[in-house]
Amino acid sequence: MSLFRLDASIRTDGSTSRAIADIVEETWREGHRDDQVIRRHIGLEPIPATAWANAVFANRGDLASLSREQREALDLATTLTDELLESEAFLFAVPLYNFGVSQHFKAWVDLVITDPRLANNAGQPLKGRPAVLVVVRGGAYGPGTPREGWDHAASWMRRIFEDVWGLDLRVVESEFTLVGVNPALDQFKEIAAEMRAESERLAGEHGRHLAGALTH
Ligand SMILES: Cc1cc2nc3c(=O)[nH]c(=O)nc-3n(C[C@H](O)[C@H](O)[C@H](O)COP(=O)(O)O)c2cc1C
Repeated sequence: MSLFRLDASIRTDGSTSRAIADIVEETWREGHRDDQVIRRHIGLEPIPATAWANAVFANRGDLASLSREQREALDLATTLTDELLESEAFLFAVPLYNFGVSQHFKAWVDLVITDPRLANNAGQPLKGRPAVLVVVRGGAYGPGTPREGWDHAASWMRRIFEDVWGLDLRVVESEFTLVGVNPALDQFKEIAAEMRAESERLAGEHGRHLAGALTH
């Protein structure tokens, strides 16, 4: 059984999304010592921004008509889609940037959806496979906070994973990661530490979901 892991953080040092996803992966690993992890670091090695349009307008029924750029885009879409179809479990770690979906994550999803096997109207070949989405935010967006409703990323990602691809998704949300970095947030140190501890606990629980140890 292979695990597909995608990281969308644009950094490695100090990355909370990677740290939380590491806990998920380590828990999954306990039951899968010899199994493979397929990795995509789309924040550090982005999908080319031009690939999507090249793939969208490529005529798959007439390969001879394709430009070199179109062929490359289709090949990349095929590779990304193969990685998903070959995996039995999924781990996605995606930070919130500018109140919306990470551009790198959107470019990856868009390109995968150009492949007919995982298009919006495809027959959900991934349906029911376990997945964990780790979402991290520098601020806090809970009910009653000034920024409630400003995270426009998480609901879209859930839509794609759960409704378009049919994954059996668990979500870990880790907030206030900028506490300790931005002095204006120093008053929230205690609550930020509690939130971090809870997200680490949940990451372990969801890792067991990925490993197939939980029934649902
Ligand atoms: C360019 C940029 C934009 C960001 N925009 C937001 C934002 O809109 N809302 C938020 O809560 N945090 C925002 N953050 C903070 C990140 O979500 C936070 O630092 C998170 O921990 C990043 O993930 P990482 O720790 O895995 O790298 C932003 C960070 C950067 C670098």
